[in-house]
Amino acid sequence: MQAILVDQPGKDSTLRLGEASSPPLQPGSIRLRVAAAGVNRADLMQRAGLYPPPPGASELLGLECAGEVIEVAEGVSAWRPGMRAMALLAGGGYAQEVVVDAGSCMPIPEAWSFAEAAAVPEVFLTVFLNVFRLGGLEPGGTALVHGGGSGIGTAAIQLIRAGGARSIVTAGSDEKCGRCRELGADVAVQYRREDFVAAAREATDGRGVDVILDSIGADYFERNLQALAVGGRLVLIGLMSGAKAEIPLGALLVKRLQVIGSTLRARPAPEKAELVTAFLERFGGDLQKGRLRPIVDRVLPLAEADQAHRAMKASEHFGKIILEPPA
Ligand SMILES: NC(=O)c1ccc[n+]([C@@H]2O[C@H](COP(=O)([O-])OP(=O)(O)OC[C@H]3O[C@@H](n4cnc5c(N)ncnc54)[C@H](OP(=O)(O)O)[C@@H]3O)[C@@H](O)[C@H]2O)c1
Repeated sequence: MQAILVDQPGKDSTLRLGEASSPPLQPGSIRLRVAAAGVNRADLMQRAGLYPPPPGASELLGLECAGEVIEVAEGVSAWRPGMRAMALLAGGGYAQEVVVDAGSCMPIPEAWSFAEAAAVPEVFLTVFLNVFRLGGLEPGGTALVHGGGSGIGTAAIQLIRAGGARSIVTAGSDEKCGRCRELGADVAVQYRREDFVAAAREATDGRGVDVILDSIGADYFERNLQALAVGGRLVLIGLMSGAKAEIPLGALLVKRLQVIGSTLRARPAPEKAELVTAFLERFGGDLQKGRLRPIVDRVLPLAEADQAHRAMKASEHFGKIILEPPA
């Protein structure tokens, strides 16, 4: 099969379309012919040698995809060839075929294209896990999400609203802030000139927010603690600005705060299956009804993965960038 290969992993890495062997079918898994694959910030880190795949996962890039089922392992009853599935992957999406645990797959709403479906698994499941389950956001609560225009941010804005809570997001331009508000953000803060701590307090009558979903890391750590309400939870899912920060222990103690670190990719298949089931139970109806929808910024041929990564690195996009392998 054809797949994207990384030459010289590290800071001078390059991507090219080449030949890779098709993965063997595993017990409990299904094989998909990939019609579309989502690009994630983590892919940029993986090619740079900073985010290796977990043991046993494909070495190829790609954390999510959508396509047609072409083979099903013995004993898997929920899927059969010809069905359309979107899948959360530990790797391997930038290819013509993937093999994935059946529990990591979701049915694609009928009205959606494969490109739309490929924009869902990684970001919607990450937000569900970290904002609702680990962060414990309740209806009526408020969450602050950094990078409102990201894949994660555009999923978070919609899920938080569908979950009956309010969102405050940060974004780097007025245009992105406007698009976040159109999508359902209650407050959008242009972080290059506005203070998100002040905005979070103002939007909560001085109380602070209940949950923060943060992928910025070091630069925002202290201000995040300031923006939290008493008993608030900071869920760290990325470290875009750096990995080392001072912890003001007094603030943690006095405000009874929790700081939670989380990654989705390395979790074992049964945990992912449980997450997928819980996500569909709570939000599957909203997906079907179109109340939740993937935000696709652009679709490029798989061979142009390098161009897709450059666009993501420069944060040109709003929502998701999708790649389509050759048929
Ligand atoms: N732990 C996990 O399980 C997990 C899973 C999925 C994703 N993630 C992490 O979540 C993050 C987002 O992933 P993604 O794929 O959605 O990436 P993405 O679409 O490339 O988004 C990154 C966003 O961050 C914004 N940004 C950059 N600097 C910022 C700052 N100082 N303040 C606020 N926003 C800033 C960028 O846009 P503007 O600056 O133009 O606003 C851009 O929209 C990444 O760090 C990724 O590794 C973690």
